[in-house]
Amino acid sequence: MRDIVWNVSEPHAPFRGSATRLIDREGECRLLDQLLAAVRDGESRALILHGEAGVGKTALLEYLSERASDAGCQVVSAAGVQSEMELAFASLHQLCTPFLDRLNAIPKPQQDSLSTTFGLTSGPVPDRFLVGLAVLSLLAEVAADAPLVCRVDDLQWLDSASAQVLAFVARRLGSESVAMVFGSRVTTAEMAGLPKALVEGLADQHARALLGSVVRGPVDPRVRDEILAETGGNPLALLELPQGMTRNQHHRGATGGRRRPDRIRDPGTLPPPPGALSGLSIGLGSGEASSACRPSGGHRSRARS
Ligand SMILES: Nc1ncnc2c1ncn2[C@@H]1O[C@H](COP(=O)(O)OP(=O)(O)OP(=O)(O)O)[C@@H](O)[C@H]1O
Ligand SMILES: [Mg+2]
Repeated sequence: MRDIVWNVSEPHAPFRGSATRLIDREGECRLLDQLLAAVRDGESRALILHGEAGVGKTALLEYLSERASDAGCQVVSAAGVQSEMELAFASLHQLCTPFLDRLNAIPKPQQDSLSTTFGLTSGPVPDRFLVGLAVLSLLAEVAADAPLVCRVDDLQWLDSASAQVLAFVARRLGSESVAMVFGSRVTTAEMAGLPKALVEGLADQHARALLGSVVRGPVDPRVRDEILAETGGNPLALLELPQGMTRNQHHRGATGGRRRPDRIRDPGTLPPPPGALSGLSIGLGSGEASSACRPSGGHRSRARS
């Protein structure tokens, strides 16, 4: 276990993009900027951003995409889809589809394995090792044009074949100018050994600022404290919980028995653990290692490998 500290030639520059407005997250953004700078320097990186539902993983991936595009990198996105968890290679297909016209640039056996995997040619079920090598070669081929950032969200819903291949690729990255950054509610056995950063709730003053941005009019300090305690700084909860409260509740106290939004609270929003995730307790705050350590310069997320 170690802090993630990467030597990069380009110092952290303040975010100037337009689409993503993140409150707090200085440490996380710095980590992503360092990752991007390393990839632009010809190195490769993998990182798993993990944390509970609504904590802001996708928001951070959006930040990364925007920064990467602004810096002239190529960005390709894929995400686990709950309804496609049983379809082998469904998420890998999302990731590779934009590059299939480059297949003939990789070694023939790898080319054949990927063609068969995606149903472009018929043949025996390819060896997953060969599929992994093929994806690595394909991403390296694409990154020869410009640094490539692969963004894979909702890892907890990846089909297990895709998860296995993507983890294989992430572990073998070297100096291809490729970044693979994952967002996940859980840490999975397949992703063992890859650098991880735990995304936590916003720090108190930032949670107050986000709450202040959605609550109109005066709020009883007791109510505000109750909301802050209830949400634990979770941005989704901060944005949604006050919406169900009446003006009276804002004034007089008590959150009206409302608790965190269902997406965060209800374990039913998460899938039953597939084979890939079995053995892990899936749910609010699960999968987060208690022994995690902080990323360099960060103050609310923790990084480890
Ligand atoms: N730092 C932040 N500042 C302001 N808003 C934020 C921040 N982080 C997240 N949000 C907002 O909170 C909501 C939830 O964030 P997001 O969708 O990124 O969570 P998530 O971790 O990806 O959740 P899930 O596991 O359900 O996919 C979004 O509306 C997002 O815009
Ligand atoms: Mg998300």
